[in-house]
Amino acid sequence: MGGFSRRAGALVVDAVPLAAIAEGAGTPAYVYSAAMIRERIARLRAALEGVPHQLHYSLKANACRGVLTVIRESGCGCDVVSGGELAKALAAGFAPSQIIFGGVGKQAHELREALRSGIRLINVESAAEVALLASIAAELGVVAPVGLRVNPEVDVTNAHRFIATGEKGHKFGIPIGEVEAVGRQVLASPQLRLLALDMHVGSQLHSFDAYRNGADRLVEVAQRLQGLGAPLAYLDVGGGLPATYEAEEAPDLAAFAAIVAGAARTLGVELLLEPGRFLVAEAGVLLTRVIYRKENGGRTTLVCDAGMTELIRPSHYGAYHRIDSVAQVAGTMVADVVGPVCETGDFLALGREVPAVEAGALLAVHTVGAYGSVMSSQYNARPRAAEVVVDGDRWAVVTARETYADLVRQDVVHPEWRQR
Ligand SMILES: Cc1ncc(COP(=O)(O)O)c(C=O)c1O
Repeated sequence: MGGFSRRAGALVVDAVPLAAIAEGAGTPAYVYSAAMIRERIARLRAALEGVPHQLHYSLKANACRGVLTVIRESGCGCDVVSGGELAKALAAGFAPSQIIFGGVGKQAHELREALRSGIRLINVESAAEVALLASIAAELGVVAPVGLRVNPEVDVTNAHRFIATGEKGHKFGIPIGEVEAVGRQVLASPQLRLLALDMHVGSQLHSFDAYRNGADRLVEVAQRLQGLGAPLAYLDVGGGLPATYEAEEAPDLAAFAAIVAGAARTLGVELLLEPGRFLVAEAGVLLTRVIYRKENGGRTTLVCDAGMTELIRPSHYGAYHRIDSVAQVAGTMVADVVGPVCETGDFLALGREVPAVEAGALLAVHTVGAYGSVMSSQYNARPRAAEVVVDGDRWAVVTARETYADLVRQDVVHPEWRQR
């Protein structure tokens, strides 16, 4: 089994010392363990063994090509939420028949791209989107494979209100009370085929109550639609399985599987899942070097070469990420671990007990494989970090570090001014 451990005091990923990667790829750099991703996929599949199912990895968690390759080669499909993610999934070699397209604000051109490429399922989120999809399918002379993303309006208990999505009034999905009417609209159109009901109630879900209550509601409305002749083939329960950031217990996959598999069995359909975070979060670290150690108004501050531009989760969600020294050091200290960006909100950890390192030390910020690199930015004109995949005793840069040339690539040097 792969993962992060210490050998002779040095932090290694699988069989590769992180210091060697920093030396070869520079910092900041995202580093992912292929073995850990494969192990997560295998674990989830084993829990679902008794029920026909397919894992559609959620690209939004991490769309790095090297990571997508590991996931595709493990036999997973994927779930995308924009035309851009669809393009990335196809470029990474996913077959259209392995791709699900969701998202609350799909535009006409994105629906057209999805229908043209022949993807497995489009999860629609409103009556207006159903009408738009039907007209585009007619224009292209195809029948669109439709899922209805339902907002089951259940209570969601999780880490942060920004990652709860299935409560009453959230912008996502069709309110549960309107699903039958929208289902009838789909059934009435010769351009649409109603294949699935879908939900995604939230992310980082340690309690499975929202899955249980949401699935119960979906089953009820799905049975009514089946009674009206809907040829349902799938129940899509979305993503949401949690990662361990601090000391949270690993999720009880058997308990999760019993809930979602039971719902699919009741309907006699295949189960689809859209896991993101659970598959990749713990497989990634952010390698960063301490540029300066300074004392500031009674606080010790480690100024690193990574900050909110590489990892916005601490600042945006108040998220906790464990921070380790790559080389073993004696003793700890309480410090603010911050980046070089001109914002007070630019930090990786505040007032945290960390190894007592000096300037020049390498740090590993853990559990960043999901919603890390994908949320990075060029703010302060900072080129985006490199990404590295480790596979056993080999490693490779799979996303090149951006250069200063990349920062000005889209600039229009001689604008073509137009008259109104
Ligand atoms: C529709 C949908 N599916 C899947 C996911 C993946 O969620 P997670 O990373 O929590 O598994 C998300 C995350 O926001 C989502 O919006």
